[in-house]
Amino acid sequence: MIDYSDYTVSIHYDRRLYRQDIAGSIAHARMLGRQGIIPSEDAETIISGLKSVEQEIEAGEFPWDPSLEDLHMNIERRLTELVGPVGGRLHTGRSRNDQIALDMRLYTREVIRETTAGLRGVQRALLGLAESNREALMPGYTHLQRAQPVLFAHHMLAYFQMFQRDAGRFADCYRRADVLPLGSGALAGVPYPTDRHYLAEELGFGSISTNSMDAVSDRDFLLEYQAAASVCMMHLSRLSEEIVIWSSREFDFVRLSDEFTTGSSIMPQKRNPDFAELARGKTGRIYGHLMALLTLMKGLPLTYNRDLQEDKEGFFDTVDTLLATLRVFQGMLPRMELNVPQVTRLAGESYMLATDMADYLVGKGVPFREAHGIMRRLCAHCEAQGRELQELTLDDYRGFCDRFDEGVYQITALASVAARDNPGGTAPNRVAEGLEQARQLLEEAANDF
Ligand code: ARG
Repeated sequence: MIDYSDYTVSIHYDRRLYRQDIAGSIAHARMLGRQGIIPSEDAETIISGLKSVEQEIEAGEFPWDPSLEDLHMNIERRLTELVGPVGGRLHTGRSRNDQIALDMRLYTREVIRETTAGLRGVQRALLGLAESNREALMPGYTHLQRAQPVLFAHHMLAYFQMFQRDAGRFADCYRRADVLPLGSGALAGVPYPTDRHYLAEELGFGSISTNSMDAVSDRDFLLEYQAAASVCMMHLSRLSEEIVIWSSREFDFVRLSDEFTTGSSIMPQKRNPDFAELARGKTGRIYGHLMALLTLMKGLPLTYNRDLQEDKEGFFDTVDTLLATLRVFQGMLPRMELNVPQVTRLAGESYMLATDMADYLVGKGVPFREAHGIMRRLCAHCEAQGRELQELTLDDYRGFCDRFDEGVYQITALASVAARDNPGGTAPNRVAEGLEQARQLLEEAANDF
């Protein structure tokens, strides 16, 4: 006979929720005793039994039994083995439906705290890189073509802002995860005088759910975490892409420390940026988990449906992958060395200052569109001759426009950057403001949760 029962088993992955499940059960038992729903001695017995169960799990001595399907049944069975039939009173006024909803919310709140701490660590690393290379210029890009010089610190602070928004998204998700579903029963509520506010207080929830049918079937908080994780991984992936490009010989902007590169089994010279590549690669599976959960939810009638058991593996993998990636970046970024001579040199080369020269002609009364045309012809001329703009004589310049004077030689990458002195621009004093604001945001982050 074929045994089909393992199709429904979830114990091999939902056992990760044992701490949340036991904390929820202890609060529930305490509430049942306080309310006189079960005798208070029984509540005490159950609570100490649950604590023993937790110790057994932590000591690796718990007899997990797949034939009991899930975490909840495993714990309840073991509790009853330990304390006797009184253990059977624990599930009074509760269903596995509000129980698992509770476990997932407790777990989500915890991982949001961890995720946010990881994000703050990455932000600190970016700020550190910006501060230790405060003055370094670099070429800024559009279309991955050299565009205008910027400060390297400005580039790092751009990522700081992305992760700042990510932290905001996780904080927002926390608020909606922070709602107690316990007391909803299977779907309709429970016929006992439970005290849900007491439960909320015991478990540190900000509020209680207002509709039992919604509470047992809502997984929005998981979707929101996974959506925020997807955006965050997208940011990490973009940074990874830059690190991959920057660490190539062609760019040679940064050098990764040995811990974050690997050699090739065949090419002895290689220092491959595998960590950044894997972060970029893992982003795809985070997106996949989000799409899987959205698809899982879209056809479900109210209320609980067993499909919901499928919410877990993708969610856990999302959490593990994101936390691991944040850890890697906290190690990799501070050890990444900027090749200052290289980025400084390139910041002023290859017609990077053409826009500034057009702006300079505007200062001499030439309409911008005309100045743009003059500079385009000048760049083409230089390119044909294999020269840099800076190598032209004043007569060369004047051949294109008689408004050029000695002032054209004052146009440097540093002058270009300094000129962009509007709020949000790359001028050194604006970047100094950005650094100050970033430091302040990190200080405020000390009371994230
Ligand atoms: N293992 C289940 C899940 O993760 C727990 C709830 C089961 N409820 C039920 N009525 N079968 O969703």
